[in-house]
Amino acid sequence: MRRSQSAPHIGGEPKEYLEAQLMAFKTGTREHEMMSVVTAGLSAQQISDVAAWYASHKAVATLAEGVSEDDAPQACVSCHGADGISVLLDAPNLAGEVNIYIDTQLKAFRLGKRKHEIMSEISANLTDQEIREVADWYSNVQLEIEPIE
Ligand code: HEC
Repeated sequence: MRRSQSAPHIGGEPKEYLEAQLMAFKTGTREHEMMSVVTAGLSAQQISDVAAWYASHKAVATLAEGVSEDDAPQACVSCHGADGISVLLDAPNLAGEVNIYIDTQLKAFRLGKRKHEIMSEISANLTDQEIREVADWYSNVQLEIEPIE
């Protein structure tokens, strides 16, 4: 499947996370050329509906061959899971995201262009090399998104 290098998978994300991110784009606390414009035209109700639609899919992750959960980045697993399926309602899945997307987001948190209590602090302690390694770990997970029956 060909897909964008700069947009995340969102099927199967927690509704809470999607809704919070869309509202952040709409109100300007998170900025993105395209997403800021798109969300400006949506009402809070429409945002809630869109979030519910994407959340009604199930994300199924499979680790790459030859690795085990023990090899996952320990600094991330408590929230994003070893396989990149989030264990918190307000944290996104990272499974199967393109490594450049994960890399860019972590650098944005580190630079302060994107802000979040937890992620700003975590990324502040990561070197470029470590960012590349955790990005590669999650991008190597295979992700399938299925509708919930
Ligand atoms: C204590 C919980 C916690 C830990 C540990 C944690 N994260 Fe996060 N992460 C979050 C939350 C919550 C968000 C949502 C941030 C927001 O709302 O902007 C997030 C967001 C992200 C994003 C943005 C994803 C997107 O789709 O925009 C990336 C990338 C990310 N985390 C990577 C990591 C990596 C890599 C690690 C380990 C080095 C890590 N996180 C550790 C909680 C955590």
